[in-house]
Amino acid sequence: MSSNIITFDGPSGVGKGTIAMMVAEKFGYKYLDSGSLYRSLALKLYEKNNNFDTVLENLDQWTNDIIIDFKYIKGQKFQIFVNGEDYSEKIRTEQVAILASKIAKDKRARDMLEVYQRNYLDGSGLVADGRDMGTKVFREANIKFYLTASVEKRAERRLNQLKDQGISANLPNLIHKLMLRDKADMERINSPLMPAKDAVIIDTSDISVSEVFDKTINIINKRKRKIYE
Ligand code: DC
Repeated sequence: MSSNIITFDGPSGVGKGTIAMMVAEKFGYKYLDSGSLYRSLALKLYEKNNNFDTVLENLDQWTNDIIIDFKYIKGQKFQIFVNGEDYSEKIRTEQVAILASKIAKDKRARDMLEVYQRNYLDGSGLVADGRDMGTKVFREANIKFYLTASVEKRAERRLNQLKDQGISANLPNLIHKLMLRDKADMERINSPLMPAKDAVIIDTSDISVSEVFDKTINIINKRKRKIYE
């Protein structure tokens, strides 16, 4: 058990990235956005060969020259490079999210990315966000959160984000896409999305970011007091 690892899992659009980064800031911990590793690997593979069936037939061969580097710039962003090229921005599209969800089913891809995630640990504190942080990659974390929210609320948030970026989208379509991705992430055989047995579940549908943050900080502080008592 490690008191220096805090995990946030949950489906997309629940606000876990925002909260996880705020928590990392608060405690001076490192932050890991594991989804960006899946997105970067998927995009790089797609750039090499857009036929995923062919890629998956011989994945090791397609991944053997791929090197992913990432770092958290405190208070700013999670930066990710593939073979030296900055992928931080171009992985943020819905298309790449769908590719990532496809690649995430594959055990070889998961194993490869798990090594990167474990190597990121360096004895200082870590806040990790993703789908299997508490159930698989950092099972030893003793503060685990699972954030959830209704698909409608998550789609509304995404719609507003897109609007802010000047991108038009429609709600029913976003709901449909989120439902498909939830299904793929929850029903896959390898490390499906689910709450860890010891996770605290928070429904963020009807509470603000600052309320979610306050809740998590209270829980973390209580746990920390217990650990050091
Ligand atoms: O969190 P995100 O939307 O950036 O993640 C993109 C996809 O990557 C997600 O649909 C499933 C996959 N993923 C995963 O399988 N395990 C993780 N720990 C993080 C992401």
